[in-house]
Amino acid sequence: MRPSGRRDGSTQVRREKIPVIPVMYRMAMKLDAISRERLPSLLRAMPKAELHMHIEGSLEPELMFAFARRNGLSLPYQSVEELCAAYAFTNLQSFLDIYYAGASVLLREQDFEDMGMAYFGRAAADNVVHAEIFFDPQSHTARGVSFETVINGLTRACERARSELGMSAALIMCFLRHLSEDEAFATLEEALPSRGRFIGVGLDGSERGHPPEKFARVFARCRDLGLRLVAHAGEEGPPAYVRSALDVLKVERIDHGVRCVEDPALVQRLARERIPLTVCPLSNVKLRVFRSLAEHNLAALLGAGLCATVNSDDPAYFGGYINQNFYETFATLPALTARHAYQLASNGFEASFADVADKQRWQHALDAIFALPGS
Ligand code: HPA
Ligand code: ZN
Repeated sequence: MRPSGRRDGSTQVRREKIPVIPVMYRMAMKLDAISRERLPSLLRAMPKAELHMHIEGSLEPELMFAFARRNGLSLPYQSVEELCAAYAFTNLQSFLDIYYAGASVLLREQDFEDMGMAYFGRAAADNVVHAEIFFDPQSHTARGVSFETVINGLTRACERARSELGMSAALIMCFLRHLSEDEAFATLEEALPSRGRFIGVGLDGSERGHPPEKFARVFARCRDLGLRLVAHAGEEGPPAYVRSALDVLKVERIDHGVRCVEDPALVQRLARERIPLTVCPLSNVKLRVFRSLAEHNLAALLGAGLCATVNSDDPAYFGGYINQNFYETFATLPALTARHAYQLASNGFEASFADVADKQRWQHALDAIFALPGS
């Protein structure tokens, strides 16, 4: 700025004309200026919410063998290598068969707690600040393990995640969709004494041939109980399942949902209503929803204005935890930039069932990582 003479002889500082750029644009400009080289460190450092993670799918082969040994069980595999060689999935069902067999080593509360803590340790290392974790009680009660055993072990792990790792953690109980509505109701009844220990319910397992409608009454009851509602839909199943998960089950989030793009009107609705999709890129490739990561539609989902998030699904089976999902997806899809990284992390907080105050705190921490105004 340069001083200018006034008629009364005094001087005045004249302001150069600086165009006023709204904060939103300044943020976008800053994000767009971040180079691709900086992406891996930002992806690692950014605080994140994990919203689609099956705790039984975090059971690493080494832990599976350790639990089998301490519980006096034998696995149909001689070594970790032999077990891992079986992880060559051709579709969702081929994975689920192995996943349920793997979960059969979980017998005691301590097993569930240890499995939970192993996951939370890895999540904390990935800068996950909040995790909403799925568990499948029916895959345990069917083997004679009580609901109480499962929920006691997992609750203890969530408490320890809070006290030892400073992480916020909550449980979402899933119904297995290949089982009957009656069995889902029986599971809900069994869970009710522990109502305060899980925040919501979900729907997982074999999608094809098991539409959301099958569980309409169970979800209505859960809604009356004040539980939060989510469901897997549009992973292998058609976009119509995403619609009925919303309209019939009245879920608040869709797990996966990537097949919504086959129905443009549905995409518009998801964007308009800001229905979150909990996307799991590595899972989608392992289960052949996409032929390769290069063909994944994450960038298109974001481009359509959807509240997409990145998550790990079953990390012990699919090749990596949440950060690995971020790294590989961003390294493979050139359309994804720092702006998308920020958006995905921000979407995760928005889509979570956490308190507003917590969401704001995490959002500020995210802004600080990206050094955005106001942070
Ligand atoms: N889809 C459906 N059910 C599941 C999955 C999944 O990706 N992982 C564990 N159960
Ligand atoms: Zn899943």
